[in-house]
Amino acid sequence: MNLMLMGLPGAGKGTQAEKIVDKYHVIHISTGDMFREAMANKTAVGLKAKSFIDQGELVPDEVTNQIVQERLAQSDVNEAGYMLDGFPRNLAQAEALDQINASLNKKLDAVIDIDVDPKLLVERLSGRFICRKCGATYHKLYNPPKVKDTCDRCGSHDFYQREDDQPKTVKNRLDVNIKMNTPLIDYYQKAGVLKRVDGAQEIDQVFAQIDAFLSEIN
Ligand code: AP5
Repeated sequence: MNLMLMGLPGAGKGTQAEKIVDKYHVIHISTGDMFREAMANKTAVGLKAKSFIDQGELVPDEVTNQIVQERLAQSDVNEAGYMLDGFPRNLAQAEALDQINASLNKKLDAVIDIDVDPKLLVERLSGRFICRKCGATYHKLYNPPKVKDTCDRCGSHDFYQREDDQPKTVKNRLDVNIKMNTPLIDYYQKAGVLKRVDGAQEIDQVFAQIDAFLSEIN
């Protein structure tokens, strides 16, 4: 199965991706995570991406398309299938993905759009914190660890907040993504692969909608 998860910043892509991977064992490919890793390692891609990410802008398409193309060509993706998270984000990237898929003899089976009113997203992003050791994502109100200050998944006590979750950057990230979102939804609706889920519900209820859909198409 080859999937794509779309949704505005804070809609819950990363949160649902963890659950989908646990159950369906597809390879999770988050362009945001790839850029953060490249920035931490100060690679050429990371240095290029940093100035855009710090401003809440999209990294240029040629850089983003290239890292996705390289990742989709790897053998683990061939065997298990992929789940893109945060890519494509505009029509040019959607067209690039079609070309990448064609060149690798793959096809996108479904696009899951996690639909949330933008008004809810500022609070989701400002309350988010992440385990530094394993990357698990939490929210101080909506999704705290079961034991205070202890990661459910790896037991670490070391958490951080993302730089781009500062209020000033969040506003621009939302504005940039809202603009791109509708054309992308239209594109995948026309392609007949779009499934929209109500992302304003509780995390487990959102997953139940996704799970019901995936078990039908799998
Ligand atoms: P990226 O890392 O992809 O960030 P994003 O799209 O802004 O999305 P987020 O990771 O912030 O949100 P999410 O939807 O995963 O939400 P989460 O599950 O964490 O990209 C970062 C940057 O990289 C971009 O701004 C851009 O610069 C660059 N980039 C990435 N891809 C690119 C591309 N294709 N082209 C160009 N540039 C690109 O949830 C958020 C919070 O809410 C958490 O605290 C969570 O616990 C909580 N939560 C989740 N679900 C619920 C729920 N149902 N109810 C209550 N709380 C919930």
